[in-house]
Amino acid sequence: MWGGRFAEGPSSVMREINASIPFDKALWRQDIAASKAHAAMLGACGIVTAEDALAIERGLDTVAGEYAASGVPEDWDLEDIHMVTESRLAELIGPAAGRLHTGRSRNDQVATDFRLWVRDALDEVDGALAALQAALVTRAGEHADSIMPGFTHLQTAQPVTLGHHLLAYYEMLRRDRSRMADARRRLNESPLGSAALAGTGFPIDRDMTAQALGFDRPTANSLDAVSDRDFALDYLQAATQCALHLSRLAEEFILWASQPFGFVRLPDALSTGSSIMPQKKNPDAAELVRGHSGRITGCLVALTVTMKGLPLAYSKDMQDDKPPVFEAHGLLGLSLAAMTGMVADATFNTARMRQAAELGYATATDLADWLVRQADIPFRQAHHITGAAVKLAESRGVALNALSLADLQAIDGRITDAVFAALSVEASVAARASHGGTAPAEVRKRVAEARGALGLE
Ligand code: ARG
Repeated sequence: MWGGRFAEGPSSVMREINASIPFDKALWRQDIAASKAHAAMLGACGIVTAEDALAIERGLDTVAGEYAASGVPEDWDLEDIHMVTESRLAELIGPAAGRLHTGRSRNDQVATDFRLWVRDALDEVDGALAALQAALVTRAGEHADSIMPGFTHLQTAQPVTLGHHLLAYYEMLRRDRSRMADARRRLNESPLGSAALAGTGFPIDRDMTAQALGFDRPTANSLDAVSDRDFALDYLQAATQCALHLSRLAEEFILWASQPFGFVRLPDALSTGSSIMPQKKNPDAAELVRGHSGRITGCLVALTVTMKGLPLAYSKDMQDDKPPVFEAHGLLGLSLAAMTGMVADATFNTARMRQAAELGYATATDLADWLVRQADIPFRQAHHITGAAVKLAESRGVALNALSLADLQAIDGRITDAVFAALSVEASVAARASHGGTAPAEVRKRVAEARGALGLE
């Protein structure tokens, strides 16, 4: 394709290091669509004859049919998907194929194809995130009243509701979706027609190709358009943030499924057994989601470092942009699917969760709050009095509300019988009805809002 100025062909190492077809064949649909849009524009602008434009478009449809039926042939000599397609087109339609590359370069071609691919990826992730959100919201609605211990430092802190806990992840994913939407908005400008780096002297219509490919407008600077890979980094950054959220969710399921916790039974379909220990049911899917977040982060780091310090405009380093994005997208899709199944089909042991909430003095803050409200004691002092009550209960190995009134009054005479109503886990969660708090009534409000936002029912 560029043999004209060379005396000898590439070495086998050159062929191998140069070939991107093994991975960029994944862009074939986008490459065909962009080439068809370009050909139609060349025809409409009178740069090629209407006849040639039509022959090219029909030929590209035939190539697409072949790819769909039997895959993309991997010819290393042809380097990449752009050349493989153009060379097949030439076999099919003859010399007219040579007119397709008028007013464009592989540099704007690959930037266009890859943007289209990442745009589809963003849409796919958005759909998968919505499905996981729907699963979380459904389970949260079922468990608006289910009480479990809430933790800080992984130490029992205050009772919360399981519904509230699940909705925390709904919120994280809502922000992930907004990051994906931001990335999509910025990405949606067409590089096509920027040519190699400087634009082209042919009277092309960039608005026409932009519109045909669903872009909002053509890019404003040809140098930027062929060398920008922020759109891929935006995707990887959003994917990494999302993977970190999934990893935390996965970690909680792993922890909750362990025997000492016993909060959840994971679906058999997303667990594995042990080849030696017959009793084992391992949370492998969740562990792999946790693991994949590391690999996705690695993909982000790979492309970040590849792009750092590259002078304008295109350099071949940028061919390495695709593998990390493809890999991250595959891993994220699997992770989202695994966590959606996990959330939808896990069996929560609500009795065990409630029991755990009752251990560990989770309502100590409620005792302190009661002293503030009922006896007008400053919070710091109430905190101290409550600490003494916890110490006594702990020395006896009982819960706070198992202490007698006499015991409590020995610590502070202002405590009355009415305190016991505040010390149950139900009273504790019901009291936390501040906006966004864990009270079942609040959780139900948030579930209703979320269902509305997701368009459920
Ligand atoms: N396969 C190349 C890539 O993915 C296409 C662009 C090649 N351009 C060039 N000037 N060699 O980056």
